[in-house]
Amino acid sequence: MATTKFKEASPYVQPTPTPPPEDYLYKIYEDNVALKSSRTGEKVLNLAIFGLGRAGTIHLSSLARNPRVKITYVVDDVESKWAALKEFWGLNDATFLNSKQSSAVFKDPKVDVVVVASPTFTHEDIVVESLKAKKAVFCEKPIAESRENSVKCYETAKAVGKPLFCAFNRRFDPSYSAVRQRVQKGEVGHVQTIKVCSRDSPLPSIEYLRTSGGIFHDCMVHDIDMMTWIIGEYPIKVAVQAHTHIPEIKALDDHDTVAATLYFPSGTLGIVDLSRNCNYGYDQRLEVFGPKGMLTATNEQPIHCVETQYGLNGLTTAPIWYSFPSRYRNAYQTEMEHFLDIVHGKAQSIVDYRETLAVSKIATACEESARSGKMVEIKWGADELPKRN
Ligand SMILES: NC(=O)c1ccc[n+]([C@@H]2O[C@H](COP(=O)([O-])OP(=O)(O)OC[C@H]3O[C@@H](n4cnc5c(N)ncnc54)[C@H](O)[C@@H]3O)[C@@H](O)[C@H]2O)c1
Repeated sequence: MATTKFKEASPYVQPTPTPPPEDYLYKIYEDNVALKSSRTGEKVLNLAIFGLGRAGTIHLSSLARNPRVKITYVVDDVESKWAALKEFWGLNDATFLNSKQSSAVFKDPKVDVVVVASPTFTHEDIVVESLKAKKAVFCEKPIAESRENSVKCYETAKAVGKPLFCAFNRRFDPSYSAVRQRVQKGEVGHVQTIKVCSRDSPLPSIEYLRTSGGIFHDCMVHDIDMMTWIIGEYPIKVAVQAHTHIPEIKALDDHDTVAATLYFPSGTLGIVDLSRNCNYGYDQRLEVFGPKGMLTATNEQPIHCVETQYGLNGLTTAPIWYSFPSRYRNAYQTEMEHFLDIVHGKAQSIVDYRETLAVSKIATACEESARSGKMVEIKWGADELPKRN
């Protein structure tokens, strides 16, 4: 046999291969098998969660089975769901409150941590009250409805010495983190263009959109944060076009489709292609292009092992993830563990408050550009931006 010469000794007598670092789930499994934890001896944190809609349910699913926390309070106004929630998640020891009763959470010294996943317009009050009561706070994006009010929240956090974490979940997505690491290592060289395609699915309800804060502060903040986090700089000019195809969204004076260009001081150009309504699933793509090559993070397909079906009308392949709870499932879980590490003083937040505030300022400039039809310049104060990169 021609290939007999390649025959090696039995794998049992050769060094055991180690799992690739990319298999982040196997790493967790190995730690579980070995009962290896940096959390040994940690205090179990008493936690209150505000809002159990789309985002709150995602976080509840990370928390209800989490040995690091005990869910002590659930605050939501849909009282008809309380009994079912209790039974489904095994929350028999939790106190359920409506928002008018929520001061009980702030008054209870046993509560260590508050998770805020209620509608955006409610964030500021819950964040400030929680911080004043010396609770650590995990808050869904955005921290408040305006940059100025977010500043107030961060000032309160600083004054009381408690963490205020803004949940930019995409930073915890393994693919995007890998792209960032490779960009930061210089694999594509000085980035010439960074492109994000972000098309939402399913179309959010009109009730949600009515209080969402608009497409720029509700959706585009994710794209702006990811872009600035990956390349490590902030735009000085933005030029944005936006349109509203859906009459019900037009009636809210909001947009459903956005095409934005961002100009960065080093000459990098950023491009965001954003839609509220994508009929083929949750389309989330990223591309970074430079003189040494291109890095892309394409859409994940849940059943990716079934590659292609051949038919006389052509080839079909598996669908992409339908929406954010499934596409970013890993990211939401990792993000929550990171927050708990911050609370225990075991990690420094990877989301700096200046980054959150900068994202809000850029989103406002993008909205201004779209509404005025003009390019908008962004001026940055000396201490306004993080010094990380
Ligand atoms: N990071 C992400 O991927 C992501 C995804 C979706 C939503 N969000 C954010 O999460 C927040 C909530 O959005 P959603 O889509 O879950 O909304 P939602 O409308 O689905 O749910 C909001 C829930 O909050 C409850 N609620 C209303 N007022 C309250 C109050 N004062 N206190 C406690 N609960 C209250 C409502 O009864 C409802 O159950 C928003 O700020 C949004 O920007 C983030």
